[in-house]
Amino acid sequence: MNQPTTRRALVGAFAAAALLGAGPALAQQYPARPITVIVPFAAGGPTDVLARIVTQRMSRSLGQTMVVENVGGAGGTIGVVRGARAAPDGYTLTVGHLGTHVSNIALYRRLQYDPQTDFEPIAPLGVNPMILVAKRGAPATVPEFLAHVRANQERLSYGHAGIGSASHTAALMFHAATGTKVQDVAYRGTGPAMNDLVAGQFDYMIDQALNVLQQVQGGTVLGIAVTTPERLPQVPNLPTLAESGLTGFDVAIWNTLFAPKGTPQPILERLNAAAAEAMADPAIRTRLTELAVQIPSEAELKLGAFKARHAADVARWVPVIRAAGATAE
Ligand code: MLT
Repeated sequence: MNQPTTRRALVGAFAAAALLGAGPALAQQYPARPITVIVPFAAGGPTDVLARIVTQRMSRSLGQTMVVENVGGAGGTIGVVRGARAAPDGYTLTVGHLGTHVSNIALYRRLQYDPQTDFEPIAPLGVNPMILVAKRGAPATVPEFLAHVRANQERLSYGHAGIGSASHTAALMFHAATGTKVQDVAYRGTGPAMNDLVAGQFDYMIDQALNVLQQVQGGTVLGIAVTTPERLPQVPNLPTLAESGLTGFDVAIWNTLFAPKGTPQPILERLNAAAAEAMADPAIRTRLTELAVQIPSEAELKLGAFKARHAADVARWVPVIRAAGATAE
């Protein structure tokens, strides 16, 4: 795992030391200006939508605007590298997820950041179930769709948001479970990918529910199945892949707000409190529930609690993804 260059790391360390020295005074002043939130995928996708909903409400608690900056490309790694190398001063944060902070460990031989040590988790933003969706006209039932993919895998194609993204990770699991190999089409996010699926430019995609529910309910794409063991109340007629023959299929994507390593504790606490306030806000809870986002519990929102979940998912998923997926480089 390549670390940011030594010079950059030294600059970061001096900045952190200076900030630590300022300690309590700094926490009172923070935030003194707008905060940038890097979303490592294109605008309009699930990561972007979730980040904007939560950070907009956090802005109210912080008294400063949180400005989302979409930095897409390379399965989210371009944006995440920028977030890892930002000054640890609380003014540049990053939204990451199971793809950027777990799958990429398995799929990038020269990942330019260490997902577990280059960041401090501020708060989980929610866990997203995923839905397998297909272009209109595809076989609609799971058995028919699976037979269709197996029989036509040489001429079908599926979309995703780059090697190691959540949509790519889920597709890796799907193709491993069905014993199929299908041409992929990479986008800077599943927002733009969805536009092409609606237009019939490729055949299917597995994306986070909050990005596909409206399309499925509106009939612009075909919902085939959900990737979690339980059906979703928002689309109760959609079976799970697990109940449809892919026994044990279980993929859901956590999204988490991160700060760079070395960010002073008082700043992490301030940001964590704002995230917890957002998650407790009834309007936010209603909105996230409509989008099938599993809202983190108070225990999961406790500063530092996420690290154990992150370590467990690295241990669980990296070997599985390594076995299922071609490396990115
Ligand atoms: C992905 O990993 O598939 C991304 O979350 C898609 C996106 O947010 O655009």
